[in-house]
Amino acid sequence: MGRTSKDKRDVYYRLAKENGWRARSAFKLLQLDEEFQLFQGVTRAVDLCAAPGSWSQVLSQKIGGQESGHVVAVDLQAMAPLPGVLQIQGDITQLSTAKEIIQHFEGCPADLVVCDGAPDVTGLHDVDEYMQAQLLLAALNIATHVLKPGGCFVAKIFRGRDVTLLYSQLRVFFPSVLCAKPRSSRNSSIEAFAVCRGYDPPEGFTADLTKPLLGHSYDVNQLDGPTRIIVPFVTCGDLSSYDSDRSYPVDLEDGSEYKYTLPTQLPISPPYQEACTLKKSGRLAKEIHPQDCPIRRVDTLPQPLATPQPHTLLAPEMEDNEMNCSP
Ligand SMILES: C[S@@+](CC[C@H](N)C(=O)[O-])C[C@H]1O[C@@H](n2cnc3c(N)ncnc32)[C@H](O)[C@@H]1O
Repeated sequence: MGRTSKDKRDVYYRLAKENGWRARSAFKLLQLDEEFQLFQGVTRAVDLCAAPGSWSQVLSQKIGGQESGHVVAVDLQAMAPLPGVLQIQGDITQLSTAKEIIQHFEGCPADLVVCDGAPDVTGLHDVDEYMQAQLLLAALNIATHVLKPGGCFVAKIFRGRDVTLLYSQLRVFFPSVLCAKPRSSRNSSIEAFAVCRGYDPPEGFTADLTKPLLGHSYDVNQLDGPTRIIVPFVTCGDLSSYDSDRSYPVDLEDGSEYKYTLPTQLPISPPYQEACTLKKSGRLAKEIHPQDCPIRRVDTLPQPLATPQPHTLLAPEMEDNEMNCSP
């Protein structure tokens, strides 16, 4: 596969590189802002699940330039530094990370909390939706500690079977909850963004990290009938902008000649790092020893398999994409 093929298949991936964004996700936040003016009056923001950092780039450009501008970005993975962005490496579902984030906003709360968190997808829809919901609730939990009244919370949501439950939980804290789908988010994906405005916790509510919102005290079945919450669905981004489900020729309509652009920021410690190093030195191979072989019942197998010899198995050729070992 040529290295331009992803540029053809994914126009937002290509535009992200050409515009200096670390990820195509930048366009999602920009298109959400076009629709909801998310950054108006915002000087302090939290970017949860921020790596590789394109949302933090947008935030730092939109609010970081101001004197009082303050962005805190958090992710499980290490992230290359960004001007005006304070980084925390940690798991947002962990108490210690939540505490670390909250301490930056004590006495001076945030205007905006965003979360683009996505778990490693398993392909099992129920599991993926559940994990995604847990991330969203962890983010909401942090938001209840750091948001100022009237503040805004934007989080990735999977429009799965039990999404109504999530909307109901969000509506407890925000009078306005919408489900938004930016043009740059593929129609083929169940991803959307909950845009929650006007933070207004219920009377008597005290945010408490020891009682997070991850409990199961809600009965989804009770949310049928008149109590069922249906939130407005809004598509955002200029309708004449690029369609993320389409492939485009490399020479786009504006007539300018296509030139391949390297990614803005390569991952700084990707999980495939070791394989890349081995591949570079031609050592991407694995010794197979009979004792490691998962087939244990050798006595019942035909002769050639019963006495496997140590041999070398070459790993399949890695896809030649931009995120691999190129410098
Ligand atoms: C789609 S990426 C975010 C892209 C980012 N918004 C950007 O614009 O560059 C999802 C991120 O969620 C992070 N993530 C997933 N689970 C997390 C958790 N429990 N705590 C912190 N980060 C998490 C992943 O490490 C990954 O970097």
